[in-house]
Amino acid sequence: MILVTGAGGNVGGQVLAQLARRGTAVRAMTRSPLTVKLPEGAEAMRGDLADPASLEACVDGVEAVFLMWPFHNAGPMAGILEVIKRHACRRVVLLSSGAVQDGPAPERNTSPVGRSHAEVERLLAESGLPWTVLRPSTFAANALWWAGQIRAGDTVAGPYGAVAMAMLHEADIAAVAVHALTEDGHERACYRLTGPQVLTQAGQVHIIGQALGRPLRWQESSREEARQRLLADDSFPDSFVDVLLDGYAAMLNAPAPTLTSTVETVTGTPARTFHQWVLDHAEAFTPR
Ligand SMILES: NC(=O)c1ccc[n+]([C@@H]2O[C@H](COP(=O)([O-])OP(=O)(O)OC[C@H]3O[C@@H](n4cnc5c(N)ncnc54)[C@H](OP(=O)(O)O)[C@@H]3O)[C@@H](O)[C@H]2O)c1
Repeated sequence: MILVTGAGGNVGGQVLAQLARRGTAVRAMTRSPLTVKLPEGAEAMRGDLADPASLEACVDGVEAVFLMWPFHNAGPMAGILEVIKRHACRRVVLLSSGAVQDGPAPERNTSPVGRSHAEVERLLAESGLPWTVLRPSTFAANALWWAGQIRAGDTVAGPYGAVAMAMLHEADIAAVAVHALTEDGHERACYRLTGPQVLTQAGQVHIIGQALGRPLRWQESSREEARQRLLADDSFPDSFVDVLLDGYAAMLNAPAPTLTSTVETVTGTPARTFHQWVLDHAEAFTPR
C-alpha cells in the first residue's frame, strides 16, 4: 500500500492515477474524503498535514509515502515524520522545489520558497527515514492561473513577461515519483527535474495559442495590477501573491534555468513539452 498526500492536487493526483493504473494499492490522504475525485481502486482517508495525529490511521500498513508540503514553512513537518517513522515506512518521496539551492544551509537560501523547502528537506534527511527528494522546476500547471483570461478573450495580461522558466508537466514529476516509490535504487537521491525547454511567460502564451488554434497574445501589465487581480482571485492564496511576484522579479535578473535530463534518466521517456501539456489541459482554456 502506498500513501499519496496532496492526492487532489496537480502532482499527487497524477501520482495516484499512475500508481492505480499499475495496479498498486493506493490510499489517498485528503481533508475532504467525501468529495475528492479518485481513480478506481484508490481508497480515500481523512488526514491533515497540519495535524500529525491525523496521519496515524493514514500511514498504518503503508510501505511508502508520497509527501507533498502545502505550507510556506516547515511547521509541523517534524511531527509528521515521527508518525511516518513509527509505522516503519520503507520509502518517503518528498515533493520539494527547484528553488532549493545546492550548498547553502536552509536559512541561507535566497528565496522564501527555497528556504522553506530546504528546511523541510533537512528535517527529512535527519529523520532517519529512507528518503528521495524531487526538486521540480516551474509547473506547467501554473498556466492554469491564466485560464479565466483565456476563456474570456485572446489576451493574457501579466507582469514579467520576459521571465524564463523550464515548464514541467505534472505527469513527468509523478512518473519519477512512481519509480522512486516502487523501486530500489532511489534512496538518498535528490532529483532536479525540468521540462525540455526554457520558455518566457510571453512565449508560453504563444504556445497555448498555437495548441488551441487561437491568436493569443501576452500584454505586459504592472506588478500592482497583477497583485490586485491575484488578491481578488478566490482560488489563489493571498499569502502567496507577494512571494510569487517577488520570485518573478528575482528570476528576471537571474540566469535562465538550466535544463536537466533527469526525467528521461529515471523514467526512460523524455520530459513532455509545454505544447503537450496544453493539449492535455485544453478543456480548462475552452469557454464553457
Ligand atoms: N507551482 C510550481 O511551479 C511549483 C514548483 C516547484 C515546487 N512546487 C511545490 O509543489 C507543491 C504543490 O504541489 P501541487 O501543485 O501538486 O499541489 P496543489 O495542486 O496546489 O494541491 C494542493 C493539495 O494540497 C493538499 N493540502 C493543502 N493543505 C493541506 C493540509 N493542511 N493537509 C493535507 N493536505 C493539504 C490539498 O489536499 P486536500 O484539499 O484534498 O486536503 C491539495 O490536494 C508545493 O509544495 C509547491 O511549493 C510548486
